[in-house]
Amino acid sequence: MSGDFLALALPGVQQLSPYVPGKPVDELARELGINPDTIVKLASNENPLGPSPKALAAIGDALAELTRYPDGNGFALKTLLAEQCGVELDQVTLGNGSNDILELVARAYLGPGLNAVFSEHAFAVYPIVTQAVGAQARVVPAKAWGHDLPAMLAAIDESTRVVFIANPNNPTGTWFDANALNEFLQDVPQRVLVVLDEAYIEYADGGDLPDGLEFLSAYPNLLVSRTFSKAYGLAALRVGYSLSAAGVADVLNRVRQPFNVNSLALAAACAALRDVEYLAQSRRLNQAGMQQLQDGFQALGLSWIASKGNFIALDVGQDAAPVYHGLLQEGVIVRPVANYGMPNHLRITVGLPAENTRLLEALTRVLARG
Ligand SMILES: Cc1ncc(COP(=O)(O)O)c(C=O)c1O
Repeated sequence: MSGDFLALALPGVQQLSPYVPGKPVDELARELGINPDTIVKLASNENPLGPSPKALAAIGDALAELTRYPDGNGFALKTLLAEQCGVELDQVTLGNGSNDILELVARAYLGPGLNAVFSEHAFAVYPIVTQAVGAQARVVPAKAWGHDLPAMLAAIDESTRVVFIANPNNPTGTWFDANALNEFLQDVPQRVLVVLDEAYIEYADGGDLPDGLEFLSAYPNLLVSRTFSKAYGLAALRVGYSLSAAGVADVLNRVRQPFNVNSLALAAACAALRDVEYLAQSRRLNQAGMQQLQDGFQALGLSWIASKGNFIALDVGQDAAPVYHGLLQEGVIVRPVANYGMPNHLRITVGLPAENTRLLEALTRVLARG
């Protein structure tokens, strides 16, 4: 066994597959020998608008202080978030992306002999953070691609400490309404922390996607996680946050790295939060782009899973791998999701109108080639 470092790892870690990110633009440009500017990337649910100019200006202002550690308590950002979310400052936890929040939860509440419940086709980081700390992942079969909340409830046992639910979920885009959430929260035992992952909540269109914050005061075992990576357009900076009972935030704060959010990210996130016009524009662009993609898919006779995010899971009606590779040859990067148990789907991020057109034209050619 000497030198077999995989065999030496925790059993849960041995069974993990590393997270597979969307293919970087520069990598495809090198492979195809083409100019990166001609490539369209619709693979990582990023905001196609580019960052808010106000966030960029704030980063510029913060550059002179790079020699200093950031504010380890993130006071300015937490204050803004507490104000906007209608919670107390001590209910806010900042993370290096919302992935960091998910990991803090796992480190604080999971371990060997304990388990976390989540859905089939759920976000890939849930098994990673769960198994990395030696806990068991209890994966509940999905219903119509979405979370089957009653079945997830039934999967909770004495050893369950965390349930991860995403609304909407990535990569399916599926969602549950306020009633379903409330019924679920009512029945989850108080000792189980419910992590409601709202990475895409800012794209909510006023329909039946609930605002998790409205449930916080009634359910002390609820934690809502959010991010600046999607609608706020700051994915590279890595800023996320959670709102929870102060007692949960206190626990997360104990396992958090001292300076987990850097000063440029803190400054940019504050500016992005204040830039309400940028957020509104992001939302409008997403709604129009979602419609454009759906119209295009319909014209091609394809079906898709209805989505409340800034992405859509398209059923290409066959093994999606050759279609994915065909699109790469056309300079269009999307996301294969076979590793999510969805071998016939491609997850496509809503882009700018011209990017969506490029995708649809490339898809038409690739499918015609067979
Ligand atoms: C459902 C969901 N949760 C969390 C995240 C993590 O995002 P970040 O760490 O950039 O905040 C993502 C990113 O794709 C996501 O789709």
